[in-house]
Amino acid sequence: MPSYEAAAVRRVGGEIAVPGDKSISHRSLLLSGIAEGVSEVSGFLPSEDCLATLAAMRDLGVMIERSGATDVRVQGRGLRGLRAPARALDMGNAGTAMRLFTGLLAAQAFDSVLIGDASLTRRPMERVAIPLREMGALIRTSAGTPPLHIGGGRVLHGIEYRQPVASAQVKSAILLAGLYAGSPTTVHSPALSRDHTERMLESFGVRVVNAAATVNGAPVTAESAVTVYPPPRLIGGKIEVPGDFSSAAFFIVAALLGADGAGLLIRNVGLNPSRTGLLEILRRMGGDITVESERASGAEPVGDLRIKASALRGIEVPTALVPLSIDELPVLFIAASCAAGETLVTGAGELRVKESDRIAAMAAGLKTLGVDHEVLADGMRIAGKSDATAFGGGEIDSCGDHRVAMSFSVASVRAAKPIRILDVANVATSFPGFVALARAVGLELHEL
Ligand code: S3P
Repeated sequence: MPSYEAAAVRRVGGEIAVPGDKSISHRSLLLSGIAEGVSEVSGFLPSEDCLATLAAMRDLGVMIERSGATDVRVQGRGLRGLRAPARALDMGNAGTAMRLFTGLLAAQAFDSVLIGDASLTRRPMERVAIPLREMGALIRTSAGTPPLHIGGGRVLHGIEYRQPVASAQVKSAILLAGLYAGSPTTVHSPALSRDHTERMLESFGVRVVNAAATVNGAPVTAESAVTVYPPPRLIGGKIEVPGDFSSAAFFIVAALLGADGAGLLIRNVGLNPSRTGLLEILRRMGGDITVESERASGAEPVGDLRIKASALRGIEVPTALVPLSIDELPVLFIAASCAAGETLVTGAGELRVKESDRIAAMAAGLKTLGVDHEVLADGMRIAGKSDATAFGGGEIDSCGDHRVAMSFSVASVRAAKPIRILDVANVATSFPGFVALARAVGLELHEL
């Protein structure tokens, strides 16, 4: 099993761009495959997760050409043009792929089976199956987890669904099934979650209406609601995938924790407000991060991020920011370990059902590195140390979780001794080239 050795370093800086957004890359293939005409995707993330989606779309009969390292050309088959796959569709480690495909396949004329790796096979799938069954779908989980057996030839109808937790994957699965329903479908969420599906559907000509709970036009709660109107067709086109904010997050934190230098510039990062909760949190902690050249890239806002080394202080993270920073919380725990005073994260129980139990995996690593913390059912309390070495050194198990592995790599910027991180192969699920980029900004990271 490959591992990382991260030597203790201090200086972080330079100018980089991170690979394409994982969430948007998945969606680009799913939607362009059921659209009409050719779609050209640029900035596509060729990571293992997205390549699992690409292989599955090909198994469903979609012609997809890899026209460049990050360019993909998709010949759409139209809403009803997918064909029965000859085998089970393997989603690998990708929860997003499994949940979004469940919504799409629930509406097809044929049966299908979705499988995944050991981590994905432990993850909860009734959260998508329940609302889809309400729409008329036939879905069998294996005691709540994959493999999933999806029955074809069902007639779906629109529903009004209130999701108990704000999940973009569940929302997206329902919206995809809703494209095929006999009437509009509305998903209510207790908080805002990433809205890439809604944006891309609109850019493909689908009517999608967002409605927050309002009184006299002013939002009264964090609740959000989105309605999709079943379209006659989706129209393919160009999709520009911005740099993945979640990948940038590791370097944002590394640059904040690094010793003063010229700072770090990260170009062309996706800045969709439903993704950038970490920016708000880090700024409240005293982080010096500025956005430059903010612009639109297709349906998504992007910009360049300039980060300067900063003295951070602990805060209580507002729970409304949790869904907007859910994938960045592991690296936030690293930042919090280096902040003066206490940081409290609650309302993040979803971390327990990600690629690993991220609360447990991060807590075990923080313990090894000597960070004073308290594990909560839905988060963590961290007593940070603002001196140059908040972390000791030692051997950490990433639990096969890409974001845990990359988060502890960043800890090397404030470590007293080298950090060895075990079981890092899954970094390739989201961030091919992580080691090279980490070295480019000053980390001394080696894969063993
Ligand atoms: C994702 C949604 C999030 C996130 C995941 C990607 C997406 O999951 O953690 O990495 O692309 O929709 P939930 O929607 O389940 O919170």
